[in-house]
Amino acid sequence: MLNLISRLLAFFFCYEYNNFEHMYQFYIETYGCQMNVYDSELISSILISSDFKQTHDDRQANVIIINTCSIRKTAEDKVFNRLKHFESRKKKKKDFILGVVGCMAQRIKEDIINNFPFVDFVIGPDEYHNIVKAIIDSTQGIKSIKTVLNSNETYEDIIPHHFLSNGISTYVAITRGCENFCSYCIVPYVRGKERSKKPEVILKEIEKALLKGIKEIILIGQNVDSYRYEEVDFADLLQRIAINFPGMRIRFSTNHPKDISNKVLETVAKYPNICKHIHLPVQSGSNKILALMNRKYTREYYLERIKAIKKIIPSCAITTDIMVGFCNETDEDFKETLSLMNEVIFDHAFMFKYNPREGTYAYYNLKDNVPEEIKIERLKKVINLQNKLGLLSKKNDIGKTYEVLVEGTSKKNKSEYMGRNSQNKVVVFSSPVPIEKGTYVNVFIEKVTSATLIGKIIK
Ligand code: 5AD
Ligand code: SF4
Repeated sequence: MLNLISRLLAFFFCYEYNNFEHMYQFYIETYGCQMNVYDSELISSILISSDFKQTHDDRQANVIIINTCSIRKTAEDKVFNRLKHFESRKKKKKDFILGVVGCMAQRIKEDIINNFPFVDFVIGPDEYHNIVKAIIDSTQGIKSIKTVLNSNETYEDIIPHHFLSNGISTYVAITRGCENFCSYCIVPYVRGKERSKKPEVILKEIEKALLKGIKEIILIGQNVDSYRYEEVDFADLLQRIAINFPGMRIRFSTNHPKDISNKVLETVAKYPNICKHIHLPVQSGSNKILALMNRKYTREYYLERIKAIKKIIPSCAITTDIMVGFCNETDEDFKETLSLMNEVIFDHAFMFKYNPREGTYAYYNLKDNVPEEIKIERLKKVINLQNKLGLLSKKNDIGKTYEVLVEGTSKKNKSEYMGRNSQNKVVVFSSPVPIEKGTYVNVFIEKVTSATLIGKIIK
């Protein structure tokens, strides 16, 4: 009762002074890719600078924001389930505000508002500057749908609030949007035109992260290789960052096989603080399928780029994305994917079965004609092969010593520590003395599993 009275008083007090947001605690739930994680940090920064308080417990929150992904149906289904979950709370709590942001907000705005009428606002990836107004409007019963794509929006004025990072590493977006239009992919439609952030803004963002004690930054973009700001290309940007922040580890993702240049590879090789790991999605090993996917490279070109990586950066780990069951994929095409995997030996792969997305070229122009059972069977096959190859690639690490950035204790065994090497492989190790999170140690690798390198600390 007392609680209710004090909340009512707070409500009127805040309303009176037009300072509504003081009483709001927000909670952000994030689905999807690294860019969404980054965007949630932007949103939280915008809200915190308007005096909203952040909570990491959704039960404490009276503003819940769901940052969504549209890449596959499963990602969207998760969000629909969460919205149903919050519906009952919405009925019980009058002053509780629920917003949907991100790629689903952009893709199916009206559907969300029509099918989930209790949702208060829907905001797409280029309209986060309007989120405070949308929340305040919601308190007056006004619903907002803000989904204009703006190819000038890079949020250069906002330093993200790194609440999702582990305190050791964090994302820094260098581009937004994508213009590659792979025929299966919804991203260009929901995230708009590609744009690059000013190098000075990126450097400032890294500087701020450094001051907060961050030890590793991950430069992100849908295609980092197409970064360009005036005369500065991606390799130039990497070099500038490597020179300006010699104590910082630098990672980047995602590269595109059609664009990754030798200049980038040489820059990675040259600077010890640039991590030796390249994520280079191949999708398929068949030229026919690559053409249907509009990937703009051939199997041969991809393999040539892999050769170049291995030659210029011999210690480089290579990871990939693989999609099975794309339109018209025959057994022969699929076998070419398996043979490419055997040829490259990826250290890790994210593997998916094709899922048609309304709005894409493939959805309207190509037949989703690989039966579901075959897609599942092919997915199992690539996963099994990758497990074998991943283990093989890790076995080569036995007997090597790696510099590891310590992230904390191991999840499985609290008396052991875990961190990552430059190749982004998880390393678990024992130590006779306590080790601080965020320090670098040298670990001698004694054994491996398909996911982890295991060893002991050495002087
Ligand atoms: N179906 C299945 N996987 C997809 N991806 C992108 N779009 C789809 C889709 N429609 C995968 C690609 C991409 C990764 C991020 O997600 O492999 O590289
Ligand atoms: Fe999608 Fe292709 Fe752009 Fe990646 S490069 S986000 S797969 S369109």
